[in-house]
Amino acid sequence: MTSPLHNMRTDHAIHSENRVLKRRKWPEPVAADRDCCDSQAVFNAGMRHHHIANTAYPIAHNQTWGPYRVRRAEYNAIVRRAFADVDELLLYAHIPFCETRCYYCEYTVVGRREINAVDEYMRLLNNELDLYANLLNERVRTIKGFDIGGGTPAFVEPGHIAALIRKAQEVFRFTPDMQISMETTPRIAALNAAKMRGFYDAGVRRMSMGVQVTEPDLLRRLNRADNSLDCHKRAVENIRTAGFDNFNIDVMYGFAGQSLDSVRATIAHAIELQPEAITLYRMRYKLTRIADQARQVHLEDVHAQARLAGEMLRDAGYLAPPGKNTYARRPGDSGTSDYIQRRVQKGTAYLGTGLGAQTYSHTTIAYNDGAAGKTIEPYRRSLNADRLPLQDLYHLPQVHMMSKMIAVSFYFGAVDLIAFYEKFGITLERAFPTAVEFVLNNELMHYDDVHLRLTRRGAEQYNGVIALFYAPSIQRCLLEFDPEQEFNRQAAVAERIASRNDQSD
Ligand SMILES: C[S@@+](CC[C@H](N)C(=O)[O-])C[C@H]1O[C@@H](n2cnc3c(N)ncnc32)[C@H](O)[C@@H]1O
Ligand code: SF4
Repeated sequence: MTSPLHNMRTDHAIHSENRVLKRRKWPEPVAADRDCCDSQAVFNAGMRHHHIANTAYPIAHNQTWGPYRVRRAEYNAIVRRAFADVDELLLYAHIPFCETRCYYCEYTVVGRREINAVDEYMRLLNNELDLYANLLNERVRTIKGFDIGGGTPAFVEPGHIAALIRKAQEVFRFTPDMQISMETTPRIAALNAAKMRGFYDAGVRRMSMGVQVTEPDLLRRLNRADNSLDCHKRAVENIRTAGFDNFNIDVMYGFAGQSLDSVRATIAHAIELQPEAITLYRMRYKLTRIADQARQVHLEDVHAQARLAGEMLRDAGYLAPPGKNTYARRPGDSGTSDYIQRRVQKGTAYLGTGLGAQTYSHTTIAYNDGAAGKTIEPYRRSLNADRLPLQDLYHLPQVHMMSKMIAVSFYFGAVDLIAFYEKFGITLERAFPTAVEFVLNNELMHYDDVHLRLTRRGAEQYNGVIALFYAPSIQRCLLEFDPEQEFNRQAAVAERIASRNDQSD
């Protein structure tokens, strides 16, 4: 089978290649990223370690990305250069507060002792936007998508969200038809109709709410507070009355001991709530407080749950191509926010602001302060000293940036070949010849318009498929991964951080 890009006009191809290569400077890869691993062995390792071979790229970044870490003194210069050719940007603001902390959660959420720091935190977030505006001020950047995520952004008052949006609009140019999206828990939406109206009035136009699961026993085991069916219904009523006509529900599966009936009941309930989109999250155990339960979850059970959920959603008119985890009921709508759609399909660069947020250019990836320790203190210290609040900044070789873009593309089950080419100045087939040959020969992916897309068979084996496109150092980590040791260690670390942060002063 030939790539659709073979039909592209050569002059356009050469022009694009030169344009990209002239502007973007990727460092040379170290030895560990030069020697390829055997495709069949990597595919098998991805399937064996299906709990970690997923869209969350990379694995073990301290070890694998260590050689590419930037020294603190160079942060400003490297960030400025990385964004110099970026005119269109996505923006993400992280709000780390939650009423309670769910044991399964993989996000940067702060503990009880930081819960009174909301006013100060929102001020720091605005300061961070100012810092970026000053650093990148050679041109006016256009924001093509803005997500306010968490944690639980709806935890803070609408006035805070309105001020954040005003600040972002002051320092960047917003595309007029772009929708700002944010997240709430059912409990906050159910108890605070006025808050939902306040968020709408502040300019938010898409709301996403986590239902996760409906089985009461499982909810209790996961420490998920007040998530009753009634609470969901009231929440939806308040969200709709506030004016939101773009509303998503998150549902999770793949928990230890979860039955098919539990998944069936959750999906039926989510459908009954009639959101525009339903996003299915398979539980990712890495670095959560219940990481040690990963070994109790078997791939065939997870597949059966995903199949059941997919069939129920399709029967109810919610559609998604194989491998995509957001199902939408409006024709032509991806179901996701503008921010996610561009990030996944086009690999558009994004600025992540707030605790632990990730920032991504075409040549760098950075993690904000707080990503590791989940406390506000280092973030506060950096911003009070007028420094970018970065915990780690990596200037990465092209192979890692390509792997990152491909891993994220699998949220939609397909790699956009044109977007890949325009970003890297090389076709996917030239960059990953053995991986592309493997997925085509084994009917795991197929060409579809300008995409290389998962087949149904590939969607069921996507943990193996995704690993084929990892950079060599990450593939080696996967081949050597020891789940017995690793998951227990991760659960212990997550528990230690959470209980330390929960202790009152
Ligand atoms: C930032 S979170 C939560 C939004 C909101 N605070 C809530 O709880 O409804 C966004 C979504 O990520 C999903 N999620 C959280 N932890 C996860 C994990 N360990 N693996 C996979 N998905 C996860 C949940 O479905 C959640 O709704
Ligand atoms: S799932 Fe939502 S409410 Fe629960 S800890 Fe994570 S961000 Fe907070």
